[in-house]
Amino acid sequence: MTTKIIFDTDPGIDDAMALLFIAASPALDLLAVTTVHGNADIDTTTRNALYLKRRFGLDAPVFKGADAPLSRPRNPSPTFVHGDNGLGDVELTGHVDAAPEAKPAHQAIIDLARANPGEIVLVAVGPLTNLGLALRADPEVATLLKGVVIMGGAFGVAGKPGNVTPVAEANIHNDPEAADLVFTAPWPVTAVSLDVTTQVVMSPAYMDALEASAGPAGAFLNEISKPYAAFYGGRDGIIGCCVHDAAAVAFVIDPSLFQTRRGAVRVIPDGIATGQTLQKVEGELFGPSAWDDQPVQTITVGVDAEGLLALYARTMTARA
Ligand code: BDR
Ligand code: CA
Repeated sequence: MTTKIIFDTDPGIDDAMALLFIAASPALDLLAVTTVHGNADIDTTTRNALYLKRRFGLDAPVFKGADAPLSRPRNPSPTFVHGDNGLGDVELTGHVDAAPEAKPAHQAIIDLARANPGEIVLVAVGPLTNLGLALRADPEVATLLKGVVIMGGAFGVAGKPGNVTPVAEANIHNDPEAADLVFTAPWPVTAVSLDVTTQVVMSPAYMDALEASAGPAGAFLNEISKPYAAFYGGRDGIIGCCVHDAAAVAFVIDPSLFQTRRGAVRVIPDGIATGQTLQKVEGELFGPSAWDDQPVQTITVGVDAEGLLALYARTMTARA
């Protein structure tokens, strides 16, 4: 039995890795790709989603989403991570302009949820603006999804910091208001956070092996991974690419790869800790706080990195 997926994304190098992982997985049925600002502006992330769809023969329609956060100006694009074109400035071979579907992304999320009640997992690996817009337009959408799995947040597990500030992760920092709406809505949310994604690294040797075994997708992934790895090498001394967005996909395919912790999650909206995610661990007792009466959500606190890397390689290779 396959799981129906909506993939909300800001491609993005690691977003591309995640999208091709979804497309290759026999466990997943990709119903739609919805785009959002983040790693680049919305025209660029949407162009990249359409490019990946065409180049790799994906069937799912692409819906263009929000060009800016719910209630603040958009942060500058992280061109030093994902390049000016969002895909590491590799040449987009054979690029042909194509248009997204006419419907906005948040409406597509609502309509698909209504048409498939209780069946869809929404995997969101960019700023959560489209999800926030969907909740505002139709709050019942929170009762119609099987679950929401995001790549986002940094909970300081084992002293791990954020990646855009000492306490904030990029996707949450790029729209803290939307993220807080998502965590406090009555749908089951799992945050696959930096605490685990920074523990899963695709080394240059791993990427070379993927190129050798996973056909055209493997070659493309190896190519776009090189500027991404250069960023991590220069900044963090990591040899390879952190597996952020594909880790959220891996959670849907095999949650047993992760250790989790339950509790209400809130997002700091302003000040020096803007975008920080904080969980009140279920069962711990405090005085009255902003976490009271909020839905209990799930965060990841540990990962079987080798198992995840093996799942990714096995999936990509089998589909080649
Ligand atoms: C997240 O931010 C984006 O740059 C990546 O695509 C990933 O979704 C990592 O913090
Ligand atoms: Ca992303």
